[in-house]
Amino acid sequence: MRYFIFTDIHGNLEALDVALEFAQKKKIDHYVCLGDLVGYGASPNEIVEKTRALKPLSIIRGNHDKAVSELDSIQTFNPIAAAAIHWTRANIQKKNMDYVASLKKGPVTINDHIMLCHGAPFDEDHYIFGEFDAAEAFAHINTPLCFFGHTHFPFAYTNKNHHANGTFLSGDKNEIKLEDGVKYLINPGSVGQPRDRDTRAAFCIYDSKAKEIKFYRLEYNIKETQRKILEAKLPSALAERLALGI
Ligand SMILES: [Fe+2]
Repeated sequence: MRYFIFTDIHGNLEALDVALEFAQKKKIDHYVCLGDLVGYGASPNEIVEKTRALKPLSIIRGNHDKAVSELDSIQTFNPIAAAAIHWTRANIQKKNMDYVASLKKGPVTINDHIMLCHGAPFDEDHYIFGEFDAAEAFAHINTPLCFFGHTHFPFAYTNKNHHANGTFLSGDKNEIKLEDGVKYLINPGSVGQPRDRDTRAAFCIYDSKAKEIKFYRLEYNIKETQRKILEAKLPSALAERLALGI
């Protein structure tokens, strides 16, 4: 089975389109989404509609999805992120808002070997930013593989003999061969707002038969995404950061 794992799209239509075009060439069996469909970007409706149309095997909510659908307050959001939440609430269609509000809370175990969460398996809003966080996460994972998002950094943590190790997957053409007896905690990076100073859309494909995960980075039309953000009168910083990959 081939799983297309994507997360943190954040209303960026041009980035999602490039990622999905690529997926179509790869004979994907299952789409799996780790949340944050909306927030920051100017195309929340298109992202929800395209994601729904994929009929994901599993999809969970992110903190921005929760905030937009008023299932959580925006107190912890910085002023720019909060402004984008208000804009999204005003511009998302009701049927799309209903879908975002219906997304499941993580963690979710989808089969005998895959768990999903947006932030961490012990707290959907927690950022896994290092090996200490990863060690805590591994204590809550009872499958060989767990995928997470939220940080917008492509990262792979392993847990072997109770030692958590992390690797930042910079650049492209990264791949991991899965070993028996090792647990993996994997972040594919962000489709719509990468923050690792690489502006390209990030996602990964897990091949359960080949026992490997391949990580991809693809260029997209950032200028068009920026134009839409500015035209929508969203904060200009949200356009600027896309060109810096931060
Ligand atoms: Fe996010």
